[in-house]
Amino acid sequence: MKTQKLGKLEASKMGFGWIPVWYEKSCRPEAIRSCVAPVSRAAGKEVTTIEGLSPDLSHPLQRAWIVEDVPQCGYCQSGQLMSAAVLLREKPRPSDDDIDEAMTGNICRCGTYPRIRKAIHRAAGMMSAGGAK
Ligand code: FES
Repeated sequence: MKTQKLGKLEASKMGFGWIPVWYEKSCRPEAIRSCVAPVSRAAGKEVTTIEGLSPDLSHPLQRAWIVEDVPQCGYCQSGQLMSAAVLLREKPRPSDDDIDEAMTGNICRCGTYPRIRKAIHRAAGMMSAGGAK
């Protein structure tokens, strides 16, 4: 997974979960709500945003999101995708309960939750079949 050094964090409205993934050296990734986290929390860490998954939409999650036609308005989708990325790093074959727990707090006003769940299962299948980046 590509990472980038923290330059500038952008915020969105609280509650939608625009979430970068922060990596501490040799630690697990952590999904953080950038809209409510102080920038100082990222000091010295590397940050991966949705653009860091892949620049060409080749990451299994991005491909699964497209196949399952997940987004509606798209506003919440960065947070949904990055939470899913952290989940699949920790649990490569998540259950529905795992997905529901991991995605809790990512509010989708458009109600795309069933498609999100399907896309995560699809991406998990792609990754286990060797499609992981
Ligand atoms: S797709 Fe519209 S808020 Fe989630």
